[in-house]
Amino acid sequence: SLLQENYNAFVTFPHQRLTRMNPMMPFRRSLLATCAVSALAATTSVAFAQQAREVKVGYALAVNSHYGAGAQAWADHVEKATGNAFKFKQFPSSALGGERELIEGLQLGTVEAILVSTGALSNFVPEIGVVDIPFLFRDTAHARKVLDGDFGQDLLTKFKKRGLIALAWGEQGFRHLSNNKHPVNKPEDLKGLKIRTMENPVHILAFRTMGASPTPMAWPEVIGALQQGTIDGQENPLSVFVSAKLWQVQKNLTLTGHVYAPIALVVSPAFFGSLTDAQKTAFIEGAKIGAQASRKFVDDVEKKGVDEIKSHGVNVVTQVNNAPFQAALTPAYKQYAAKYGQKTLDQIAAVK
Ligand code: PAF
Repeated sequence: SLLQENYNAFVTFPHQRLTRMNPMMPFRRSLLATCAVSALAATTSVAFAQQAREVKVGYALAVNSHYGAGAQAWADHVEKATGNAFKFKQFPSSALGGERELIEGLQLGTVEAILVSTGALSNFVPEIGVVDIPFLFRDTAHARKVLDGDFGQDLLTKFKKRGLIALAWGEQGFRHLSNNKHPVNKPEDLKGLKIRTMENPVHILAFRTMGASPTPMAWPEVIGALQQGTIDGQENPLSVFVSAKLWQVQKNLTLTGHVYAPIALVVSPAFFGSLTDAQKTAFIEGAKIGAQASRKFVDDVEKKGVDEIKSHGVNVVTQVNNAPFQAALTPAYKQYAAKYGQKTLDQIAAVK
């Protein structure tokens, strides 16, 4: 209808006036026709530009983070592949709320797309809590292989019945422990430390079992709580430590690598359901490209992050013996196996 209005304004009306002015009619008619065509072309492209559907994409960290890298690559692909039928609008740094609010926003259809940690997602899609189990993955290659293989792809399908559509697995990296009290070298050093964890039952059980005092808290409150000393520490991958400049609020970091943290790229079912098949393909392909961009960002931070963190005066314990931490977790592993099934854990371990 906007197109029709433009057409009426620029073509029908001048032409009707023209029929009343006879002498120069042929010349003017062609001139006006030319003007009308160019005006129509200009207004048509404005109309198309206005028709680009906005895609609100939310995530917890800054634009200059693995989340921002993923969101930008996703946006670039979709915008290009659909001839700019969509325009992504980024809401970084928890601008739309914490990760819980982002997920709820997708379910309600008030947000179209998010990049979010499994730490927050497992409260909505319980099956995916399995990937949050400590020391489940041997290394990054193992984690990526599991998530990109049958197991991980099957997990993506579990989102649907929870009112979410997950398109790809991106990455944050392995989580490490930081605090303001003292360097942590062994599980005994955790005793009494108030460690902020995600609001995630698998993480909370792990820290309680290892002897810390886990304090679950939404991310937007963490930096303030560290500044005020209401918590002693937190745990997050290097990508988060660097992007959020946690050296401003943390003195000690130990590269425990206790939990691998994936990101899911997720869309709202209401939004996704409204797309054509070709547009759906663009979003799926774009999400995969975005996921790879987040992994690439993490690869870079893994190479340079420790030096950068040290340069800000943080004491970094780089050599850690994981065996005592794993041994301390024995009672928790029994509960994880009961919840997710030993068969599932063995299946993940068997991926080489
Ligand atoms: O610790 C968390 O809450 C998450 O790792 C974060 C930083 C929000 C990124 O997903």
